[in-house]
Amino acid sequence: MKLNIAVLPGDGIGPEVTTQAKKVLDAIAYKFNHTFIYQEGLVGAIAIDKTGEPLPKKTLDICYTTDAVLFGAIGDPKYDNNPSAKVRPEQGLLKLRKSLGLFTNIRPVKAYDNLLDKSPLKKEIIKGTDFTIYRELTGGIYFGEKKISKDGKTASDLCEYSEFEIERISHLAFKAARNRKKKLTLVDKANVLESSRLWRKVVTKIAKQYPEVTLDFLFVDNAAMQIILNPSQFDVILTENMFGDIISDEGSVIGGSIGLLASASIGEKYALFEPIHGSYPQAKGKGIANPVASILSAALLLEHFDLVEEADAVRTGVEKSLTLKISTPDINPDFDNVTTEKVGDFVADYINYPEDSNMNFQNIHLGQSTII
Ligand code: IPM
Ligand code: MN
Repeated sequence: MKLNIAVLPGDGIGPEVTTQAKKVLDAIAYKFNHTFIYQEGLVGAIAIDKTGEPLPKKTLDICYTTDAVLFGAIGDPKYDNNPSAKVRPEQGLLKLRKSLGLFTNIRPVKAYDNLLDKSPLKKEIIKGTDFTIYRELTGGIYFGEKKISKDGKTASDLCEYSEFEIERISHLAFKAARNRKKKLTLVDKANVLESSRLWRKVVTKIAKQYPEVTLDFLFVDNAAMQIILNPSQFDVILTENMFGDIISDEGSVIGGSIGLLASASIGEKYALFEPIHGSYPQAKGKGIANPVASILSAALLLEHFDLVEEADAVRTGVEKSLTLKISTPDINPDFDNVTTEKVGDFVADYINYPEDSNMNFQNIHLGQSTII
């Protein structure tokens, strides 16, 4: 298969983790005889610095003319502490999501057996956790009308949803549940918000088309508690934009590091793949950023094009790296010689030469391996 992939590394650790994901994609291309062609574009703070805009037209055009987007990270502290900044890096990502019509954000959360002790949560609580969050991505309070009064003393953000916006993501979430453990939990705040009551009404109606899926509801405050109290109860969680943003960061605690969580953002026509973590500016250039979330995002990209065996090969490589403790310090503080690049090298090598990596993993920690 030939795929044209837009690569938007963005800010902070974005470029270094994306480089590893590309390396892994190249290993897949080699092994399975595919051709992946990359086109790079500017986005975020770096794009503002170079062009004055967080999402230059040139970048958007690259995304419109390629098959998929591989996204790094966005954000820079110089904007975070300046509420009056007129342009912000995050606007680039939000505009990209809206322009490409990426209305569904899929965020898988999993507790890997060999990482159970990395989570601050108790092993017996997180063991067996395997759920996926379906977060609505182009509506709600993120995109509703924003107002600030003339005197600057009152501000508001409108949370608005239409039946259509709820329906299209709900179908995807129900289909996913049908192929998994057949349970869908709608997370909302229907005891307070009118928009949540619409979500309940629409989702309840759609559920009739998926009789094999059990539907239940949780208020978001309770869901926030249940996710760390009893996470293995969940299968597919469906929710609106901001609730999904918040509970997916919370979910990352289960896996032991936010550096492990990948995501896919899907629309009718376009698809974008990105780690759920941010730009982690403190780590930029230090070689300590975990590339696994970006590498697993590349696996989701492959799966999107039905390259299932290829996606599995990436995941097997990642799992092997975790088993062998070839991991960055966020999950492996004892081996601080394992850099971002070494993790990428290992996974890429494992895909093509699994026997070598088995033999050499001891040496990896000594920096003497022949494969990295
Ligand atoms: C995410 C991020 C973004 C969001 C930011 C960077 C705008 O936190 O993808 O979860 O809030 O959606
Ligand atoms: Mn977020």
